[in-house]
Formats: sequence, structure tokens, C-alpha cells
Amino acid sequence: MHILTVLDHPNPSSFSAACAAEFIKGAQSVGHTTELADLHAEGFNPLWTMVDVAGEVSPDMASEQARIMRADAICLVFPLFWWGMPSMMKGWTDRVFSWGWAYDQLDDREQSLQPARSGVLLVPAGARSDELEDEGYRAALETAWMKGTFGYFGFSPRQLEFLCGAQGSDTRRATLLARCFKIGATMPEPV
Ligand SMILES: Cc1cc2nc3c(=O)[nH]c(=O)nc-3n(C[C@H](O)[C@H](O)[C@H](O)COP(=O)(O)O)c2cc1C
Repeated sequence: MHILTVLDHPNPSSFSAACAAEFIKGAQSVGHTTELADLHAEGFNPLWTMVDVAGEVSPDMASEQARIMRADAICLVFPLFWWGMPSMMKGWTDRVFSWGWAYDQLDDREQSLQPARSGVLLVPAGARSDELEDEGYRAALETAWMKGTFGYFGFSPRQLEFLCGAQGSDTRRATLLARCFKIGATMPEPV
């Protein structure tokens, strides 16, 4: 498969960047080809403008959509910010997976206009996993993202992976990075 990894972090030495790198290494270890969209390094503009409102496809959207069309699978990597996406990834999804190209919710809620692509979200989080469960954050984000967003974009199958304790010890981080490698090496085919 050809796998597109999309990274939202301004710091190349961040844990999120390391997660993306391990995921890519894992994917390459089993023969997949890979491509990285490093949104900060590339200066992607996440702001919705009147061009987007008008439904026009601006050149930056077109090149992101071309990357998606080349891919059989997509991995999004972003740190959890206030139980949501940081603004760069939020703007990328809002602008690039546009109505009429990615989805048309008037026809069918779960019917994407895009072919199936397997998708994974790798989300480093400061919280412990029991906090995510006990407070209902995991269930809320499963609903918002897995049910309410990424099905529209054709992610199938789709997987949400929180990398809890991302600010923890080196040992903890090594465990999480090994998990990213394994997820890259076991990406399922799209269905
Ligand atoms: C503005 C901001 C908001 C954050 N909100 C959350 C949050 O809601 N839940 C959480 O578990 N961690 C939260 N964190 C912690 C980050 O998820 C954590 O620092 C990040 O995953 C570490 O990865 P990095 O080194 O790649 O930035 C937040 C951090 C920042 C800076």
C-alpha cells in the first residue's frame, strides 16, 4: 500500500514527530511506500476563508487532495489539545476533506464520495488512559471522530489510538513509540 502520514507539530524534536517517524518506519518495514505531510514545515494554511465558503478548490487544497488520492491508507498524528485537535490538523481536515469532494451528507450520512482508505489517528495525550476512560473522554472522541467525522471521509477500517502518558518517562515513551511502529507494520487493507 501507499500510506500518507499527516503530522501536526511545529517541533521536529517533539514526541508527536517521533511517533510519526516510528509509524512510517513500521510501514516501510513491511514494504509499504510512504509519504509525509508535515503541515507546519510545509506552511499549510489551516484558516477557512471566503474561497472555502464559495466552494472553490484553491491550489493548496488541490495538492493536499492529490496526496490523499495517491494513498491507500492515511495516518494522522497530532497531540491531544483540550480533548480535541490542535488548530493545524483541525483546519486541514475542515479545508481538505471538503463537501462535494469527500462527502455529501445530503445523500447518506455514512456515504463518502471517496474510495475506502484505511485510517488511523495516533494521538499523543498527557492524560493517563484510566482518566480517558473514567471521565468519558475516550467515548466522546470515539463518537465525534470515528462516528461523526472520519467515516464521511471514507476511512475504513478506522482506528483511534491514544498514546497516553506522552509526557511521561523515557521508558513510557519507548513503549508508545514501539506501539506506533507496530501499528505502521500492521496497517489493514482498506475495505
Ligand atoms: C494547549 C494544550 C492543551 C492540552 N490539552 C490536553 C488535553 O485535553 N488532554 C490531554 O490528555 N493532554 C493535553 N495536553 C497535553 C498534550 O497532549 C501533550 O503535551 C502532548 O501529547 C505531548 O506531545 P508532544 O511532545 O509531541 O507535544 C495539552 C497540551 C497543550 C499544550
